[in-house]
Formats: sequence, structure tokens, C-alpha cells
Amino acid sequence: MDGNGRWAAARDLPRTDGHTEGEENLARLVRIAVQRDISHLTVFGFSTENWRRPRPEVRHILGLHEKLFGRVAELNELDVRIQWIGRPFDSREARTPKYVQRAIRKAIADTAHNTGMTLTVAFDYGGRAELVQAVEEARRSPTGITPDSISEHLYLPDLPPVAVLVRTSGERRVSNFLLWQSAGAALHFTETPWPDFGAAELDAALALVPARSV
Ligand code: IPE
Ligand code: MG
Repeated sequence: MDGNGRWAAARDLPRTDGHTEGEENLARLVRIAVQRDISHLTVFGFSTENWRRPRPEVRHILGLHEKLFGRVAELNELDVRIQWIGRPFDSREARTPKYVQRAIRKAIADTAHNTGMTLTVAFDYGGRAELVQAVEEARRSPTGITPDSISEHLYLPDLPPVAVLVRTSGERRVSNFLLWQSAGAALHFTETPWPDFGAAELDAALALVPARSV
């Protein structure tokens, strides 16, 4: 969900306002994705690299994730199940503060019964860290390192392959997102910054998926 800072700068607003609007836009886009009958929507909320940003900005983004995971009533109304993907809270490098952990755990538990779309939020996520852990665990497994055993040891083994990977705000990089899962993904690049990413943009991305497998 890139381009929050630029969206704000274009309006002479502080970057934090761009993040706030970005979180609101995710709530809007989830509704649209549900209307489109998408089975899985995965968004990159915060990367393992994003901790290097200025403290006040990080604090603001953490608060927005607490808000996002607090949208349980809306998610239940939409029959959306929320999941999280990222460095396990008990791993040595994990940095997710306790209050965000609590919000994540509660949202997952309180929407677990929903059977519509699965919304997965990547927070403290990095694709390379995920792969290192998966390969280490695959190596210790009975079959050893195979594509299947690596898939089985990803953070969320049941997350289906990415059908279309969307990159907003003029960036044309993968940036460590779902590296293994995106092996066969179509790529949709747009100049639109995340807070302005709406139904038309989503439809353009979906048009890249041949037999709708999302
Ligand atoms: C994305 O917006 C939000 C996060 C990475 C948390 P940016 O903050 O990267 O926005 P730009 O790239 O500065 O416009
Ligand atoms: Mg950016």
C-alpha cells in the first residue's frame, strides 16, 4: 500500500495524514473486493524494513494497525476473515509491540468463523525472512528441502499463490513481498498512490487474471 506519503505531500499535509487516509482506503477497498467476489486479498501494511522510519511515523502507523484490526464489526458484517502474516511474535527478530499483537490476535479470533473473503495483513513481514525460516524447517522435515516442503513451512501454508500482484504509486519493484507465493503472479503497476486506489484500479488488476483464480 505505497504512496501514502506522496499523497499527503501533494496536499501539503503531514505524512501521517496520508497513512490515516491509506487505512481508510483499505476499509473501502475491502468492501469493493467483497463485491467482486475475491477469495483472498493480501496487503502489505508494514515491512521488516519500515522500523527504520522516524519514531513518530512508526508510532502512528502502529496505531493505525490497531485501528485496522479493531474493525471486527465491519469485517463480520462483510463475512470477511482476517489473518496476519509476519515474523512470529516469539521469534528473536520480531518487533511487533504487545498492544498490536493483542489487536491482531483478537481480530483473528473474532472473525475466524467468517467464510467469505480472507483478508491477510502483512505486518512486520519480509519475504526473505519468511523463506529463511521455511527452508530451515523444511531441512529438518522428513522429506528435506523440496518445493512442497518449503510451501508447507511458510508463515501461512494455506495462503494460495498470488494471482495478481499490485504495486501502487509508480513503484516497479517487488520489495520483498510474498516472494515464494508470487512466483507465477501477474503484475499490475499503477501511478495511483494507495489512498486513491479504488474500484477502477482493482478491476484493471483483476483483468490480468485469466481464469479468475482470486
Ligand atoms: C506506504 O506509504 C506506507 C508504509 C510503507 C507503511 P509510504 O509512506 O511509503 O508513502 P511514500 O512512498 O512516501 O509516498
Ligand atoms: Mg513508499
